[in-house]
Amino acid sequence: MVKKVAIIGAGISGLASIRSCLEEGLEPTCFEKGEDVGGLWKFSDHAEEGRASIYQSVFTNSSKEMTCFPDFPFPDDFPNFMHNSKLQEYITAFAKEKNLLRYIQLKTLVSSVNKRPDFSVTGQWDIITEKDGKKESAVFDAVMICSGHHVYPNLPKESFQGLQLFKGKCFHSWDYKEPGVFKGKRVLVIGLGNSGCDIASELSHTAEQVIVSSRSGSWVMSRVWHGGYPWDMMFITRFETFLNNNLPTVISDWWYVKQMNARFKHENYGLMPLNG
Ligand SMILES: Cc1cc2nc3c(=O)[nH]c(=O)nc-3n(C[C@H](O)[C@H](O)[C@H](O)COP(=O)(O)OP(=O)(O)OC[C@H]3O[C@@H](n4cnc5c(N)ncnc54)[C@H](O)[C@@H]3O)c2cc1C
Ligand SMILES: *[C@@H]1O[C@H](CO)[C@@H](O)[C@H](O)[C@H]1NC(C)=O
Repeated sequence: MVKKVAIIGAGISGLASIRSCLEEGLEPTCFEKGEDVGGLWKFSDHAEEGRASIYQSVFTNSSKEMTCFPDFPFPDDFPNFMHNSKLQEYITAFAKEKNLLRYIQLKTLVSSVNKRPDFSVTGQWDIITEKDGKKESAVFDAVMICSGHHVYPNLPKESFQGLQLFKGKCFHSWDYKEPGVFKGKRVLVIGLGNSGCDIASELSHTAEQVIVSSRSGSWVMSRVWHGGYPWDMMFITRFETFLNNNLPTVISDWWYVKQMNARFKHENYGLMPLNG
């Protein structure tokens, strides 16, 4: 009997999973609570509960050369690093081209996944879905969870003493959409990760003042690497991995730091990461 697989979520992971199931002769059914495929790349102008959220200006940090499905390259006229709408266009085209849409049930939430009473013998699962307020139950041989990460914002307000006295707005980057509303405001961005960095530089054009606070520094890299190649093509290679795995740590660390400091010395900006 053909094994039935339930796939939860139709983002990139869900679509790749449908594809892999078909290649293995399995029967996939993908449930997506949203109205479209693409997951977090489907931009929305307001953050939605239980869903990852991107800001209007998000560009990919991985290049099209490294981000594509092996047998589905990006169109030639797409830039190396692209706006989120372009990636969404690509994902939608992939789903259509590979005939994956027929396996996807949109606007269908998976509300529970449970082992069946005879699980120890059959290995089967009970899946309950909800669509338009109607519940349905079905049995599957396997479940693939592709529901995404970056879904729940972590805003540790209790870590900031006296915050309750602060009169301004305080929110997580999950709620950030565009810089316009910060015109003329003074903004403190806490954290120098990808989002903090992006948002701070974007706000610097509209806000009156932007201050970035980082407790441990960060490697600040350009998407464009040596010789004008995308950074990830140069950095995520078998050669780099080989060096990493085979050189003594002192030497591979030295090599890493040397590359990271090639554009500018992080020490000169007080950005040198504390933990390497
Ligand atoms: C700002 C930002 C920038 C990023 N940039 C890059 C990048 O440049 N390159 C890169 O490779 N990665 C990047 N990422 C990582 C990103 O997580 C992956 O690219 C990819 O989108 C993850 O896909 P996913 O399918 O795992 O999850 P998601 O895209 O989050 O999709 C999960 C899907 O599951 C659905 N779902 C969840 N729960 C249920 C349920 N109970 N029932 C039914 N459906 C459900 C959701 O509605 C959603 O559609 C970025 C992430 C963020 C936040
Ligand atoms: C790209 O950005 C996302 C979101 O900040 C992050 O999770 C991911 O690790 C980044 N990818 C790379 C290759 O740096």
